[in-house]
Amino acid sequence: MAAGHTTRRRMLAGLGAASALVLAGASQGRSGAGAALPAPPEIGAGRRRDVVLVAAERQGSPLGPGGPRLPLWTFGETPIPVLRLRLGDALHARVENRLREHTSAHWHGVRVPNDQDGVQYLTQPPIEPGQAYDYAFTPPDPGTFFFHPHCNEAGQVGRGLAGVLVVAGDEAEPSDGDIVLVSKDWRIGADGGWLPFETPEGASRSGTYGTRRSVNCQAAFACAVPAVANVRLRIVNLDSTRVLDLGVEGGEAAVIATDGNPVEPFPLESWRLGPAMRVDLLVRTPRAGQELRLIDYSASELYTLATLTSAGERRRHGPFVPAPLYASRIPAPDLAAAERLSFSFSATSGAPAAVLDGLASDDPLAKVLLDSLCTGERSFWAINKTSWPAGGHRALPPPLATLKAGRSYVAELVNRTPHIHPIHLHGHSFDVLSASRQTLPPMKADTILVQPRERVEIAFVAAPGAWMLHCHVLEHIDHGMMGWLKVAP
Ligand code: C2O
Ligand code: CU
Repeated sequence: MAAGHTTRRRMLAGLGAASALVLAGASQGRSGAGAALPAPPEIGAGRRRDVVLVAAERQGSPLGPGGPRLPLWTFGETPIPVLRLRLGDALHARVENRLREHTSAHWHGVRVPNDQDGVQYLTQPPIEPGQAYDYAFTPPDPGTFFFHPHCNEAGQVGRGLAGVLVVAGDEAEPSDGDIVLVSKDWRIGADGGWLPFETPEGASRSGTYGTRRSVNCQAAFACAVPAVANVRLRIVNLDSTRVLDLGVEGGEAAVIATDGNPVEPFPLESWRLGPAMRVDLLVRTPRAGQELRLIDYSASELYTLATLTSAGERRRHGPFVPAPLYASRIPAPDLAAAERLSFSFSATSGAPAAVLDGLASDDPLAKVLLDSLCTGERSFWAINKTSWPAGGHRALPPPLATLKAGRSYVAELVNRTPHIHPIHLHGHSFDVLSASRQTLPPMKADTILVQPRERVEIAFVAAPGAWMLHCHVLEHIDHGMMGWLKVAP
């Protein structure tokens, strides 16, 4: 499957994305992200929402009825559950661990207080088998988010341990429908069992691809939608590896949010969505009986992610004019006063992880140390020439940089490898200022694809705490491309 991902195809798809975006961005000022969006209302007092997420192995089919049954790891009876809150609601989530190994819940993209960020060893102790852990926070922003553990992600998320978090309350004009679409591939072998979730070839290159594709744990996801209606699609790329090139056929579509953050709506032509990234579309559905299809153009054969069939009476009249979401409440960085940071993402020799210094890899202590730092045996990747875990310390490596809370930063992300890396910063949504090999509209994100040899600039106001910065190709996390920022109060 990886063979279908030629550089040429990626480049062609990239050009498609660029031309669509140039059109969209033509009338927009670079620093004016969100300027034309309606001002958000006060956040009202919400409810307290209690949920219990029981992480356990459960037999199920990740491809829908009739698909192979496998031992999935899930947070509940339904694989990849969707939690829906309203802005202002307080989430109280108890995670019970009935797995054989430790776990946690990281609330990807949510600007949580640092101690709720769910990173084993950095922000909380691991949730050991048989233990439970309580998270409590009120998401400060609406949007489309997800949650997943933060150690052995390739193995845990690879078996399905993740969920979606939707925080409603950003629609100035309500849509006529709201559908979550989670794209994820699975490593299923010919015998119907799991294939290894990591391979040296994948871990040291663009990642190991799944063998079977799914959306919402179905091989061919389809559903009914109201006819001639404005339906919101919340698309989550939950795959460990695959980059999607999204397009819509059979109806009109506009991009309205990136990683949950509102953008001035622009027509969708092609949108590249790396692992962990989300995009919200507003689509105008066709007349009753007709279909709208969400397509991934990245593979050698087009893959239909979802087929939406219109039914019932038409809901809208007149042309499709997508209404913008309320503007973001995220503090805007002061670019003139910002301090500059630089992070360079590179390959290493594939040397044994630093934690193994002086230890044989079959030494039981080595296993404990590797596990306690959430790392694989070999380091293929580095940030600023440092592989996680750094320097042979049998403890947390030092931070990549020390920042000051409330200050503005401009960080350049430089990809010195021939592979794509979706780079994620915890606890922040940053402004994407520039990208040397993509034309992007003014947008905020928490995960940004950095193309081979590309330089991307992001800006943000630092929030206090210890925040991970890493690639979201799950095997790259386990093999060195991870670090953290210390933000002093
Ligand atoms: Cu979804 Cu540290 O990431
Ligand atoms: Cu990577």
